[in-house]
Formats: sequence, C-alpha cells, structure tokens
Amino acid sequence: MKHISLILFITVFLIAACTPSVNNTDARLDKRVDSVLQLMTLEEKIGQMVLYTSDWDVTGPTLRENYLDDIRKGHCGNIFNAHTVAYTRQLQKIAVEESRLGIPLLFGYDVIHGHKTIFPISLGEAASWDTTALELSARVSAIEAAASGLHWTFAPMVDVSVDPRWGRVSEGAGEDPFLGSVIARARVRGFQGPSNDLSDTLTVLATVKHFAAYGAPEAGRDYNTVDMSERVFRSIYLPPYRAAIDAGALSVMTSFNELDGVPATGSRYLLTDLLRTELGFKGFVVTDYTSINEMVDHGVAANFAEAGLLAIHAGVDMDMQGEVYFNFLKKQVEEGLVSEKLIDEAVRRVLKVKFMLGLFDDPYRYCSEEREKRYVYAPEHLDAALDVARKSMVLLKNDNQLLPLKKGEKIAVLGELAASTRDMLGSWKAAGDWDFMQSTLDVLREYNGEKNVIYAEGAKKTGDDRSGFAAALSAVRKADKVVMVIGEDWDWSGEAASRTSIQVPGVQTELLAAVKKLGKPVVVVLMNGRPLDLSREHLLADAILEAWYPGTMGGKAITQVLYGEYNPSGKLPMTFPVNVGQVPLYYYAKNTGRPIYLPNPKYKSRYIDAPNDPLYPFGFGLSYTRFEYSALKLDSKQLTAEGQLKASVTVTNSGAYDGVEIVQWYVRDLVGSVTRPVKELKGFNRIELKAGESKVVEFLLTPSQLAFYRQDMSFGTEPGDFKLFVGGNSRDVLEAPFVLK
Ligand code: GLC
Repeated sequence: MKHISLILFITVFLIAACTPSVNNTDARLDKRVDSVLQLMTLEEKIGQMVLYTSDWDVTGPTLRENYLDDIRKGHCGNIFNAHTVAYTRQLQKIAVEESRLGIPLLFGYDVIHGHKTIFPISLGEAASWDTTALELSARVSAIEAAASGLHWTFAPMVDVSVDPRWGRVSEGAGEDPFLGSVIARARVRGFQGPSNDLSDTLTVLATVKHFAAYGAPEAGRDYNTVDMSERVFRSIYLPPYRAAIDAGALSVMTSFNELDGVPATGSRYLLTDLLRTELGFKGFVVTDYTSINEMVDHGVAANFAEAGLLAIHAGVDMDMQGEVYFNFLKKQVEEGLVSEKLIDEAVRRVLKVKFMLGLFDDPYRYCSEEREKRYVYAPEHLDAALDVARKSMVLLKNDNQLLPLKKGEKIAVLGELAASTRDMLGSWKAAGDWDFMQSTLDVLREYNGEKNVIYAEGAKKTGDDRSGFAAALSAVRKADKVVMVIGEDWDWSGEAASRTSIQVPGVQTELLAAVKKLGKPVVVVLMNGRPLDLSREHLLADAILEAWYPGTMGGKAITQVLYGEYNPSGKLPMTFPVNVGQVPLYYYAKNTGRPIYLPNPKYKSRYIDAPNDPLYPFGFGLSYTRFEYSALKLDSKQLTAEGQLKASVTVTNSGAYDGVEIVQWYVRDLVGSVTRPVKELKGFNRIELKAGESKVVEFLLTPSQLAFYRQDMSFGTEPGDFKLFVGGNSRDVLEAPFVLK
C-alpha cells in the first residue's frame, strides 16, 4: 500500500519538476492536479467529494461511526470537527500511509469567532465597525486554527438578516448589505491572509456561507422557507456573498433553505449560473450538514439517490455528512446518469485547494507541536481578543452619566451571567475552553476590590426561580450602585435556536424591577446573541451596556468599559425593535404610500398599539463623551455621471472623555423607477477625537454608489434628486440635497 503512495508523490513531484515554469501558476497547478486525477479510480474520486465529521464534535443530526475505515479505503478525503496537531496527524497518517494513493485529508472546522482564543460573537464584532479589528480577529483565529492542524474554516457566515427571532443572527454582521460586505471582505482577508496565500501555514481556507439568503427564513424560524423577489435578493442578500468571493474565498457552503421554491443545495441557478458564471467563483462548493439528504424532506427528490443527482447537476462538489455521494454517485456514473467528466471537475476543484495548501508537498505541514504551543492562547492573541471585545460593546443608555463607575464605590453585582464563563464564549465557540477564564464578577472583584463587590445571583438566566431575590435585594441595600448582568443563555442563539419572544428570558427583568424600587442607580450589562426587546429594561435601568457574548477576555473587557478604561464606541449592526411585533424592522425601509408622518391620524402605515420606530436604531451607540455634528457641506449640488461629490462634516467631541465615533453616511434616492429605501448606508469613518477636539470628516460619493436594480432589473443609476445624510446613527442625522445628472 505504501509503495503506491510513494508512486503518487513521485509522479506529482516529477510533473511539478518537469513542468516548464509557466507564467500561469494555475496551468502548473492544473497539471499537478491532473497527474493525480489520472491515477484515481472512480471510487477514489468520489471519496474526495466526501466530508465526514469526526466524533470530536457533532454539529448536526448524524454521525457516521466508521469514518476511519472510510479514510483508509479512500472513501473519505475530508474531515471536519477534528483538531489539534496530535489528532489531525493521526488521521492524516491513515490517509497518507494506509490508503491506496495516499491523498492527504483536508481538515475543516467552524472557527467562526476564534479557535481557542475566542473573540466576541460575530454580531458583536460587527458592532465595532472596525475593519482592522475584524480582520485581526479572523487572522488570530486562522493562526490558532492552522497551528492546531486545521486547513479550512467554515466562515465567514455572511447571511444578512433583519429578523432577531432567528438565532443565527449572532453569527453574522447584521442587517445591512454595505456593512456586511465590508465585514465579509475583512474576515476573508483575515482567514486567508492579505495575499490569499493558502500555502502559508498560518492561513486557512475560508468558506462563504450559507449560500444563499439563509438569513431570511419566514417567521424567523431556522431552516424555514425563504421566498423573496430577485430584486430584494440581489440588492440586500447577495452583496456580502459577492464581496467575500471577490476577496478570494475559495469555498462556498450551500444553505439548508429553499429559495424561490428550490432548495439551495439543488439549485443550478444559484450554484452554477449565479455563483460560477456570474460571480466568477473558482473554488469548490460544499453542502451544509446533510443538506443533500434534506431535499427529500423538502419534497424535490423522492429519495437520496435523486437528491444526489440534483446536487451534482446543480454544482455541488462536496457532500457534508450526507453519505449520498458515496452511496450513489458511482452507480449513477456507471448507469450514465452522471458523466465522469462532471465528477472530474468537482474532484479537480478539491484537489487544487489541497495543492494550494501545500498538502501534496507535505501532508503534515500543519502538524507542528512547536507551532501549536507557540500560537494557541498566545499573549498577543488574548490582548487582541480584549481589544476587539471592548470595541464591540455598545452603550445604549447612560442617564446622569452613571457610567463610568468610580473605583472603590461599593457595588452589588447580580445575575447568573455575571459569574458565568461558558456563556461569554457564545455559540460556535470552536475549541475554546473556559475553565481558566475569569468571569465578569471575578474581574470586577479584582479591579474594584473584594470588599467593594457584593455578589448575589438573584435570578438565573432562564426559569422562574425567585428564591434568590431576597439575597439580591439585601446586597443592593448594602451597596452604592448595582451592576446587573442579564440576557440569554449562550445556547439560546446560534443554530436551531429561534425564539418567538425576544424579551430577556426568565425572571431577570422582574428582579431588575424589584431592585429599581430600592432607588440605587442600576447598570444593566447584556449578554445576548440577538437584538432583544428591551422596552422594559430601558425604563428600569439607568445605564445599559450591550456586551453580546464577549469571548475569552470578556470579563476584563466589560470591567474596563464599565470603569472608563475604554470609552465605548460600538454601534448597533442590527435594529433593536420595541417589540417582536414590529419585526422585520430595519432602517432601509420603504416610505410606503401612507407614511407615518401624514397628518391623517388614522389612515397611514402604523400600529395602534406600538410605535413604528425601533427602541434603538441601526448604527446607534452612545459614548461617555458627546459628539456633535455640524457644517455638512457638499462641494457641489450636482453629481455628474463621470463625476464625484465631496461631502464634509465637522464632528466635535464636546464632552470630557476622549473617544471614538463612527461617522455614518447614508443616501436616499427620492424618485426611482421602483420604490427606493428611505436610507442606505454608503460609507463610514471611524475617527478618534480627544475631549474638546473637532475634525472635518470627508466622504466621496460617486454615481456607482447610487446604482440599483431598476424596474427592468438592469443594474444602474437614474438621474434625479437625492439626499445625503450623515450622523452617529441612522436616525439622528444632518442632511443635504443633491442632484444626479
Ligand atoms: C451546521 C451549520 C454550518 C456549519 C456546519 C458544520 O449545520 O449550519 O454553519 O458550518 O453544520 O458544522
């Protein structure tokens, strides 16, 4: 067996060595790939289209027990949910030394917001609006994953969503296509490296997921039907996928959902016509967990064999955990239902990535114990996690400048989440562990002094146990101020975690109300994976800090923000509604024919029991200082087809703290051949201002930024009147008109 593997490597090596150095490395790569392909049996080719989970972590409904035998037989060329150098080396050894051709395995894992050092959940990171920080987070994640034997991450998740009932909003970048695209690019750069060099053993292959429009399930219920116009799909949901592909991501994961009646995993329109032909995607397409099989339940295939035919003809190259390709493709080729040419194309795409990763040069090149020891939990990684966590936090309320707290004051700390470490990692925590972590309570005690911190759990994150209330109220009576950490259990967001209510669970808010009656100032710190209905908490708390699930260094980050070591700068990447009845609620809404501001008290688009406006709008976030906007100027009132418009605004830090402001630029097209959103984000500047400092911030607008899908679905601009808006969120803005000629 071993001698054949040797033949393979000699063949590959000779081809490589003898191939005249052509300019096009692609051509050279293709030759090397073909040199392997020609040695493979049909079964071995199909093996490269198979991805099985190891039993180290199971992230879906099935587990195939004898995956080691599958590797040995060349029936499985890719493994996920296996990590560490020791374990990946062990599995790689089976593939390289025991299978007939010794083709190296590809190791994938859900390294979404960190591998061992865990960063804030992706929605939290998005709140930083800091592309440098976001890229750093993905870079550190890639380094630790690669140093742990991994080649491939199933990230970034770039699904736009406007529905907080959907638990997976926690994994994305929120509601906006522009911000989502900027963040998708930053994350791909982080994972694959700035030069997209997959041969670098500290980069990993990125996966754009979940293609496509997975973030729009009806009723916010995970895996539910997605149905939308092509215009909405292309305008809102497609841009971040496109951005990630343009950034060089070389794998795409299909989504579970149907779109326009066709499951994405069986959609030739999505996976070939759009993804490959229109978007120019050159990598390979992997399904989500058993999503081929699920086309039977979707009702577009009578059995798994038919589902497999749909998938292979749609453009799926690799079957994650479905066992469909392995069980049926060979026979379907032999029966002429599938051409071996199609199989070869799929296998080439997979082998090409393995060559790009350098796995044929050295299958163990990611298996370095020394590198693993050097990089996992490296001090500089923990520092990065602290920095990103602080930048992700959003100050939602701060009456009477209650925050920052003053060191030495006696505080009562309440809530199960205050003492939790596991919750701080959120969902999709990859290999992150928490036994060594400090909770928020630990750090508060360390920072403010044990004697100045009185802890009482008071209320659990779920359930109706009120037995802790008395002790909590007693603690409050002994304190000057209260810090109450409330929110959701980490597992209440992420996959298969949709909620019909988006209120703070259990009796946490009931305790907050009881605490409030004692008249002490109350700070609420939130840990949650989705926008919540905070209409009650907004009335009860004097200050509210949105901390999301802040990761390994979350306790320190929360403490440093609470005590003003870092002035919060986060801005909401997703609207927080007044209540779930308003959902879907997002800032780029259409005006309708009966907008709320009409004088008629009745006949207009409104509710009789709630406002139209959200509690906290997209882009909202306070600071310990105040930023004032003035002197919005345009260098012209007209923008010509080939021209550009330069806008400027003066931003002044009129408060007492140095701080960071995210200056947001929006436009509105007042009249179009189709209705147009009342605002669309087109740019933002992250600026630092010292107390008392002013800066003039500029923004260049070009006609291409005003293009949209017109009534005939052509993409372009239309002349007419526009407005430019600028502000620190999507609601409180200055505006100036201009005309596109
Ligand atoms: C899950 C998720 C997907 C993840 C995959 C592998 O079902 O939908 O995001 O990458 O399975 O764990």
